[in-house]
Amino acid sequence: MFIEFKDVAFQKMTATRKRYFGRVPDIFTKMYNFTRAKTAKALGYYPYFPNIEKSDATEVTIDGQKRVMLGSNNYLGLSTHPKVVEAGIQALKDYGSGLTGSRFLNGNVTLHMELEQRLAKYVGMDRALVFSSGFGVNLGIISAVAGQNDYVFSDEMNHASIVDGIRFAGSIKRKYRHNDMKDLEYHMASAELSRPRFIVTDGVFSMEGDIAKLDEITALANKYHARVMVDDAHSIGLLGPKGEGTAAHFGVTKDVDLIMGTFSKSFGSLGGFIAGEEAVIDYLQHHTRTMIFTAALPPTNVASTMAALELMEKEPDRRKAVMENSKYMREKLKSLGFEVGETETPIIPIIIGKDVKTFYMWKDLLAAGVYTNPIVSPATPPGRALLRTSYMATHTRDQLDFCLEQFEKIGKQRRVIS
Ligand SMILES: Cc1ncc(COP(=O)(O)O)c(C=O)c1O
Repeated sequence: MFIEFKDVAFQKMTATRKRYFGRVPDIFTKMYNFTRAKTAKALGYYPYFPNIEKSDATEVTIDGQKRVMLGSNNYLGLSTHPKVVEAGIQALKDYGSGLTGSRFLNGNVTLHMELEQRLAKYVGMDRALVFSSGFGVNLGIISAVAGQNDYVFSDEMNHASIVDGIRFAGSIKRKYRHNDMKDLEYHMASAELSRPRFIVTDGVFSMEGDIAKLDEITALANKYHARVMVDDAHSIGLLGPKGEGTAAHFGVTKDVDLIMGTFSKSFGSLGGFIAGEEAVIDYLQHHTRTMIFTAALPPTNVASTMAALELMEKEPDRRKAVMENSKYMREKLKSLGFEVGETETPIIPIIIGKDVKTFYMWKDLLAAGVYTNPIVSPATPPGRALLRTSYMATHTRDQLDFCLEQFEKIGKQRRVIS
């Protein structure tokens, strides 16, 4: 496969390029040598970039067949809610398809600022800033807050956007063991006193659904004089008395400096935000590269997100429903003998261990009508490959029971359970 690929590339080269071929290292060599995806396709277990022909949130159509969707972050089932869809359509009519520029210069509209005010109030902070993606929030905010001489303390299971934000900042990184407060304290106690400190953590960890010990993290931050940022991508709309996120869940909002969220999960849309105190947000608004040098979030997404926020506030039963569905699945999966880790949220991992076994289990489940996400290293520690399943307020008990039947049957066939 590799030879064939390289030959084709060679044939396409101009005569001048051919002269140098093999004499100077080619920067594309890694691409010609990349065969993992082709091998997985040839063996029939390639799971990425699935072709979803149609989606009704809890069910998707692939190859003409419906499958129950257990792989989405649409926790409250709001992406298809009539009010959310209608708000997007109206904004499309009012503003057009995009703002064709940065908020900094020509793309800032009233809707952005209205959403910011509502979000700040919802999470209990002075002010919020809306971005075009959650990834962009972490990348831009961490690197605007932290510099080369500063410490950033980061949980080893933090999302890739946090990892990249710290890289982008060029800060002194102290990675602590997952949710291990002794290890965090060890790193904080041994840090040089002359340098500023910043702790960044996921609120709910995206692969295994466990919750950061934010009460203990903020206590350590107070003891060792650090600022705290929590990534509530998977907590907004779910945790806290009103779905305000992890800080509210633990009652420590006053000890958290920055709350980050995304619109691509419970809000059912796209985009992200950061919230904090007035002076900090004012600085960030004028220094964050992923806000200044990128186009504004389109009004359709802003309006849909605002409609979703209103539903989150007015319909707390959605939060109750998704938590009940998750509890039901967690208990049933455990009683079938699956290992599901420490999850307390709608993200339930089915820990399998080996990559290939996980891919085959994913494939069999999909064929049986259950859509899950196979997750392997580096998104999980090596040897801890898993199927990430996630649940919505709008999944019906019939859908969930159907999935449980398939999990039991295929889990036994694949010897994941006995
Ligand atoms: C914990 C966490 N933070 C940030 C992001 C990035 O968010 P977005 O998809 O809105 O760019 C994600 C999304 O996968 C996430 O899971």
